[in-house]
Amino acid sequence: MQVELRDIRKYFGRVKANDGISLVLKPGKIYALVGENGAGKSTLMKILSGYQPPTSGEILLDGQPVRFHSPADALAKGVGMLYQDPLDMPPFRVIDNYLLGRSNSVRLNYKEARNELEGLSKRYGFEIDVHATIDSLSMGERQQLELVRLLAGGAQVLILDEPTTGISAEQKEILFESMRKMTREEGKTVILVSHKLEEVQELCVYAYVLRRGQLVGEQELPCLNEQLVEMMFGQVPKRSQRPPFAVREPVLELQDVNIETYQITVPDINLSVRAGEIFGLAGLEGSGQRLVMQACSGLVAPAKGRVRLGGQDVTGWSYHRLQKFGMAYVPAGRLEEGLVAGLTLTEHLVLARPDKKFFVDWKENRQEMAERITTYQIVGRPESTADQLSGGNQQRLLFSLLNTPLKLLLLEHPTRGLDVRSSDYIWQLLYKRRDHGTAILFISADLDEIIEHCDRIAVFSGGVMSRILDARETTAEELGHFIGGQV
Ligand SMILES: Nc1ncnc2c1ncn2[C@@H]1O[C@H](COP(=O)(O)OP(=O)(O)OP(=O)(O)O)[C@@H](O)[C@H]1O
Ligand SMILES: [Mg+2]
Repeated sequence: MQVELRDIRKYFGRVKANDGISLVLKPGKIYALVGENGAGKSTLMKILSGYQPPTSGEILLDGQPVRFHSPADALAKGVGMLYQDPLDMPPFRVIDNYLLGRSNSVRLNYKEARNELEGLSKRYGFEIDVHATIDSLSMGERQQLELVRLLAGGAQVLILDEPTTGISAEQKEILFESMRKMTREEGKTVILVSHKLEEVQELCVYAYVLRRGQLVGEQELPCLNEQLVEMMFGQVPKRSQRPPFAVREPVLELQDVNIETYQITVPDINLSVRAGEIFGLAGLEGSGQRLVMQACSGLVAPAKGRVRLGGQDVTGWSYHRLQKFGMAYVPAGRLEEGLVAGLTLTEHLVLARPDKKFFVDWKENRQEMAERITTYQIVGRPESTADQLSGGNQQRLLFSLLNTPLKLLLLEHPTRGLDVRSSDYIWQLLYKRRDHGTAILFISADLDEIIEHCDRIAVFSGGVMSRILDARETTAEELGHFIGGQV
């Protein structure tokens, strides 16, 4: 199906999120839509998928002007979108979620739905357990489920907004294969919104580049990364150097820690992270690294062993008590665990403060938030709600809410969804924290990021912490092998 966008505009008050964008997408190809954080990519794709109407402009499918009244309406007309933040409902079972999502267009019974779900999953190499509940699925599995729902709903045009942030390398490969199949074998039109230029080069044949709401360039792929980067930012941003790390006293110590859940047991964790150290936890999703992080944050209690923070035994302490003591945790699910969609930035600040007062001084907090907005270069106002920010700006918001000083900072996919310039910026902030003696523990699906920024790396596979590596003496390839369980 050929897609044409003509002079699309979307204004939010004074913000021109899309400012006259026109482009054409042909069937059987994978297109890239790139641009810095806040450039207007998600806004444009939400218009193309019926999530929101444009202020003005036209959408044509196979030459016919169309108007979408809702995402379901767009899907019925052939356009489906996988959103940057998943929209499914966690407490439901996979099959119920699926039935709910499908019932708009077709009446399905349980058995038919199950056959359809399993058939499509198999076709695209997805592994979805229909009886599992949504909240037990990984990000990657939830995404596969949503994709199947769109495909079953008749999507001829598929939009994927930042689909590889927060999923494992393995799931990424499966996803890419399915995208190739959709275009090459099935003639679908696929649009990938991504900040990861390597992926864009690998998958897409053509890129459209947005900046400040406008189309500023288009480019056949593959090409030199610098060409895309220059179009995105107007110049090639300089990358900062990683400062050296001086060995200092231990801040976080895990001694014979065992974590048991009904899914997995993580035995005998012994590790010590020092002040100012950046320590990475690497492994396929579900290998135990996230549980270790949650045990350090007080969200999961270890079944055995001791946890010490700054010399104090904090085993069994609650999340809030640890938070007061100087621990902060930035989780992966921005709009699920980290931020609250309808709350303003100022309200987030009030909630994030450890010194909760009975009477809130709104004026003071608004002022403080305005300062943090400047410091963290967030595109938004103290009165904006979290869901009005672009994905990358939501990530900046999370960082702006962290208190100072911190003994321990726990991060999951810290630069997910950030453009090159913004992730460099976040790392500079983290380096500043390390200079103040904060121990940083982080999980990332991006092996290059782990190698580039960590001092040491603990490798997890199948619930076992198999080794601790010196990041300076390890390559991303080697790390990949260890993660895969090879010796
Ligand atoms: N509902 C809304 N209300 C107000 N402003 C909005 C709303 N949605 C988006 N914006 C603004 O429109 C601009 C473009 O946002 P958009 O989410 O399209 O950016 P993006 O290119 O997807 O960025 P990112 O890479 O960070 O996800 C941003 O300045 C954002 O704050
Ligand atoms: Mg976006």
